[in-house]
Amino acid sequence: MSVAGVATPAPAFWWAREDLGYVDGRLRFAGRDVAAAAEAAPGPLYLYSAARVAANLARLREGLARTGSRTRVYYAIKANRFAPLLTAMAGWGQCGADICSPNELDLALACGFAAKDISFTGAGVANRDLDRLLAHADLTINCDTVGMIRRIGERAPGRAIGVRVNPGRGVGYGDSPRLTYAGDEATKFGIYREQWPEALATARAYGLTIRTLHFHVGCGYLSAQLDRWAEAVGAGLAFLDDAPEVTTVNIGGGLGVPCQDGDAPLDLARWAAVLQRLFAGRDVTLAVEPGDYIVKDAGLLALSVTDVEVKRDVAFASVDGGFNLAPEPAYYDRPSEAVACVPRGLDPTAWRPVTLAGNINEALDIWAAAKPMPPLAEGDRIAFLNTGGYGASMSSNHCMRGDFTEILL
Ligand SMILES: Cc1ncc(COP(=O)(O)O)c(C=O)c1O
Repeated sequence: MSVAGVATPAPAFWWAREDLGYVDGRLRFAGRDVAAAAEAAPGPLYLYSAARVAANLARLREGLARTGSRTRVYYAIKANRFAPLLTAMAGWGQCGADICSPNELDLALACGFAAKDISFTGAGVANRDLDRLLAHADLTINCDTVGMIRRIGERAPGRAIGVRVNPGRGVGYGDSPRLTYAGDEATKFGIYREQWPEALATARAYGLTIRTLHFHVGCGYLSAQLDRWAEAVGAGLAFLDDAPEVTTVNIGGGLGVPCQDGDAPLDLARWAAVLQRLFAGRDVTLAVEPGDYIVKDAGLLALSVTDVEVKRDVAFASVDGGFNLAPEPAYYDRPSEAVACVPRGLDPTAWRPVTLAGNINEALDIWAAAKPMPPLAEGDRIAFLNTGGYGASMSSNHCMRGDFTEILL
């Protein structure tokens, strides 16, 4: 049973929602028939929903409003830098942009973000990068190393800067060490507590004012990680004691979305309550720079089945796109839910395990192993969900298979 334009509520797939689900046995996303859209494209197709991005942003802003602090949102454009999307977001005026390279700066400016609404936090920043960043007096620049503070001091004494610190605690999706940016083991990110006096002295020596304290402790955290995330934020805030000129604390991004059945979504009310408690009585602006939370579930990648074949005891279905288009499942074990666009049967109890393989000549190019799927045939379309973040933006032309189309709905 379905009502026109409204996704079928049963059976209840964990990923289904009002703008994503089966209608009359066909997958619809943001009002579009995904298989039909994919057939009209020459190859792999990314579909993004502007409405979903706007809804995610609005939900986050509502959560932040509950903290009682002055707040700012910078969208981390590394997650998805599709220019029409960035242009739309700049036009909405609900967020600034977080960038991590001079080229991202140029793109953010070209898409309509003003330099005063852009925050840079990057690693391995070269002097040629600094020259391009420092050309914009209003840009927030967060320094990742003591050397970067010095090099800014040499070029722009007296400037306002931010400093990225490493609280030595972090979190990541599914507790993955590869998605955790701060913890017991030293990481390349930010300035550690024991370096803090040197960082402060270096800033002072060049008359630099530390206006922003920044930390980003990991990617993809959900409710299961909230307690440890709260500890990490608390450890980050401890740096404030020695930095009275700080007016903004940027707690980074990292807010996750469910990626597989069983992932409990991030409880935004609890998240906001932690921030309310930790920021109470502090006269600073609370900034946050999420990427995934804004765009990940607002995009999918539609691929086409090229072959269906049993090899030894494994049923394989190959598709016409690989891990180079959306690297997270292969790099980070962060799954992307594979959904048949026009399934032969909607009863998952009748589905059989299939290993979905990409078209790249690398053994790790497996989208999902033993994934229960309806019977598949050549030419079927499969949508890989949650690829709106760190999909296209991380894609490469490996094997010269980097072509895809992007459409903002
Ligand atoms: C400094 C910084 N800020 C923000 C982000 C965005 O993270 P996410 O997309 O997980 O919110 C990242 C991602 O790596 C980052 O390194």
